[in-house]
Amino acid sequence: MRILSGIQPSGTIHIGNYFGMVKKMIESQNDGDLFAFIASYHALTSVKDKAFLEQNTFEAAVNFLALGMDPEKSTFWVQHHVKEVLELYWILSNNTSMGLLERAHSYKDKTAKGISANHGLFSYPVLMAADILLFDSNIVPVGKDQIQHVEMTRDIATSINHTYKQELFVLPESKVDEIVATVPGTDGAKMSKSYGNTIDMFNTKKKIKKQVMGIVTDSKELDDVKQWQDCNVYKLSELFMNEGELKDLQKRYETPGEGYGHFKLTLLDKINEHFAPYEEKRAHLLENPKEVHEILAFGAAKASKIAQEKMRVIRDAVGLI
Ligand code: ADP
Ligand code: TRP
Repeated sequence: MRILSGIQPSGTIHIGNYFGMVKKMIESQNDGDLFAFIASYHALTSVKDKAFLEQNTFEAAVNFLALGMDPEKSTFWVQHHVKEVLELYWILSNNTSMGLLERAHSYKDKTAKGISANHGLFSYPVLMAADILLFDSNIVPVGKDQIQHVEMTRDIATSINHTYKQELFVLPESKVDEIVATVPGTDGAKMSKSYGNTIDMFNTKKKIKKQVMGIVTDSKELDDVKQWQDCNVYKLSELFMNEGELKDLQKRYETPGEGYGHFKLTLLDKINEHFAPYEEKRAHLLENPKEVHEILAFGAAKASKIAQEKMRVIRDAVGLI
């Protein structure tokens, strides 16, 4: 069972990204043969700043490795290091109708928001199809917004298989985790970079403390009995505490004498404790970029080998000899 997923390099990572996506992807290494890449070509549709793209690509690699991506067990690479994907993208383009791309929600949503339309943005689903089909992927874990792209990949693959009268491509299935709990931000709304309500995973101790101390609560005083049920501090604590620890915390809410500041400090300790092992690995990788580049080159070599073999078969099937 081959599982494939791409992640756009977005740099800073918050605990919503971690519990919603990154942790699951890392755990999927136990479910099958994981192929994971940093979607640098896709990022070009929105990022036009050289230094920003370079830095974010590097940091995405460091973060995934620090959090447990195992480059031996899985295949982990940067998209543009395996250029066969662009050749396949062209072949697929010639078998993709304009109508199919015109129906893409993500393109329509982005242009409706005023993002100027260019050809890269329009043909983005074809590149995503190339990512998926090049590696004979069976399962593609995605968020809800990406389901249609996997459907389009199936349409394109079906059409080519039909045209060339052979099972050239494996039809992939999307896997959507319906019960992805939305991690609340410091103001109780969905945690998101764009809402400025995040608690970052990797930032200075001072900054993370400031974010945690800024969690919005009601205004009950030290001597009041407090409700843990709807409290943002409690909801975030649930991500980091076991049942026994949560029972203790509930008691503290119900016993006058302590305030929200105390509960926040307890949460802060748990967050620091949870991410400390990754911090060390991350700091090591940040200080040793050569090591990171070697790991990525190793991943690219593994992915290239498969991509080259597949492209030979595809070229032969379409008449590019
Ligand atoms: P942001 O909203 O901060 O810009 P992205 O849209 O870049 O985050 O999300 C990257 C990944 O992290 C997606 O797979 C998304 O589902 C997941 N994710 C982001 N925020 C949350 C959250 N608050 N709770 C759960 N998952 C989240
Ligand atoms: N389009 C995906 C996103 O924005 C990233 C991506 C690119 C991807 N290629 C992929 C995801 C192939 C899964 C499979 O999140």
